[in-house]
Amino acid sequence: MAYPREFMDELLARSDIVSVVSRYVSLSRRGSGNLGLCPFHNEKTPSFHVSSDKQFFHCFGCGAGGDVISFVMKIENLDFPDAVAKLAEWAGMEIPQSDYGAGERNLRRRAEEACRDAARFFHEKLREDKGADARGYLLGRGLSPATITRFGLGYSPNAWTGLLDALTAKGYTKAELLEAGLIITNEKGRVYDRFRDRAMFPIINVRGTVIGFGGRIMGNGEPKYLNSPESSVFNKRKNLYALNIAKSSRADYMILAEGYMDVIALHQAGFDSAVASLGTALTDEQAHLISKYKSRVVIAYDSDKAGRSATERAIDILKKAGLDVRVIVMTGAKDPDEFIKKFGREKYAKLIENALSSAEYRLAAARQELDLSDDKQRVAYIKSAVGQLARMQSTIEREIYAGRVAQETNVTRDAILQEAERERKRLIREKKRETERKILDPVSSIMPRERSERYTNPHSAIAEEALLTVCMSDTKLCSGVSERISGSMFSSPLLGRAFDIVCARTREGAETDMSVFSENFSESENAHLAAVLARNAEKSADAADDYIDIIQGENIKSEGKLSDEAILAAAEYYRKKKGLNNG
Ligand code: GTP
Ligand code: MN
Repeated sequence: MAYPREFMDELLARSDIVSVVSRYVSLSRRGSGNLGLCPFHNEKTPSFHVSSDKQFFHCFGCGAGGDVISFVMKIENLDFPDAVAKLAEWAGMEIPQSDYGAGERNLRRRAEEACRDAARFFHEKLREDKGADARGYLLGRGLSPATITRFGLGYSPNAWTGLLDALTAKGYTKAELLEAGLIITNEKGRVYDRFRDRAMFPIINVRGTVIGFGGRIMGNGEPKYLNSPESSVFNKRKNLYALNIAKSSRADYMILAEGYMDVIALHQAGFDSAVASLGTALTDEQAHLISKYKSRVVIAYDSDKAGRSATERAIDILKKAGLDVRVIVMTGAKDPDEFIKKFGREKYAKLIENALSSAEYRLAAARQELDLSDDKQRVAYIKSAVGQLARMQSTIEREIYAGRVAQETNVTRDAILQEAERERKRLIREKKRETERKILDPVSSIMPRERSERYTNPHSAIAEEALLTVCMSDTKLCSGVSERISGSMFSSPLLGRAFDIVCARTREGAETDMSVFSENFSESENAHLAAVLARNAEKSADAADDYIDIIQGENIKSEGKLSDEAILAAAEYYRKKKGLNNG
């Protein structure tokens, strides 16, 4: 814990989760808790619960959950210190400066400053004589001097310690430059520049801070792009390239491209709402980030096979974040950069205008490699088209696309609609069966998502969940219970640890809420504990004895402890032995 105990206690006491969540979600009272539409996935019926007395949130739909700090981290896309800062601001509190955590925060702040200075250094090098090749490279790729300045592009000199020397002279320490990802240590402990002889693309977050770099090799060679490593400064999953510019675009959609060069080419052509993920596949966090600024997104991935399968994945991720998704289908060029160079910006504007809905895109993708004049392939297309039609939510949409498929395949629209309807009913039945199976098999629905946390003894785990929850709400009950059973007897180590924490707090005379757990458990463990508390909210304290009996009974069985007979026999043995000694 990086902050003083008293500070955190007061911050949490002043940051009631219900009022914090209410800043983002409209909640209504429901039983002992509050209910609203989940901000982390797209839903029409509320399944997002917020508990005032245990200070947690949990979504029964997508499984998100945690305490007030993790809520702010998740919804604002912040890391822990920034979420604490935000809550402190709302609570009208000062963040203590002279504490142990200041070291870490300082290191990160210094690393950010080093990144900014590095960006300046690379940009200057681009203008010097030795930057001639790099200048030639960037201009040769069609970038104007204005674009180069706008994106702060640069050149990392072909030297081992160019940046290292320059930034050391400015007073940065080795530790700060390592944290910034700007230098590397070799096996002998020597340090040298990470980026050498590359065209440099600074990566800037929404707040305008330089957090990392992508460095492109200027000829052939591996790796084509070298990116900054993950650190307290640079988080690939939570940032998007050029979002700092795109967020204030007047377009009502964002364009999602694959590469840095695509984004820059798009901006240069006037499409200033283009962003890209940072050298990895699109993440839920990035989709959420986009949805904070725009409600529509146009996917502009590469036209090759890899780009097409990335598109498939991205559609699902973006839709889950509640975004209206369109897809650009492009022929004659491998990516937006090349397309704009070959055909110009007006043609690209047409592509955006004609971007397909995700349903249309999937139909087009199904058709792509098929020859519809061949009967077999035509049947294959109809089958997969019917599958797509069946998944469309609106009747109108289904009718329109069924009409198109009919035209393409020379089959009547009614026949296709009929097939689609049959498939749709089948999907609904399947879903219903799945739900029923879950209801009949409560165990499968309570299992933690992480494999390593899976319950080994569900019968016991159900009692453990209930006992943990009732003990948390009732300290008096908890002190009695804690004399009879400890977390070490639980079949689930996770629930056992949580139970021990609750008991320890009770002995100190304190109550436990979700925020106590959050510093002791990982993100996924916390989400699971929030789920446990949510689904056991109505469990009765009267049944505590039964829960204990089950847990103890299962514990004895599973540990293969001595049977009653064996214990009696052992007692008899010792009695006799004692008797012998006495005699
Ligand atoms: P150009 O080839 O210069 O036009 O770049 P591009 O932006 O079109 O890149 P490409 O489509 O090849 O790759 C898309 C994105 O994937 C890049 O912008 C990088 O973020 C990332 N990427 C590409 N190659 C590498 C690599 O070798 N290593 C890493 N870590 N990321 C890469
Ligand atoms: Mn490219």
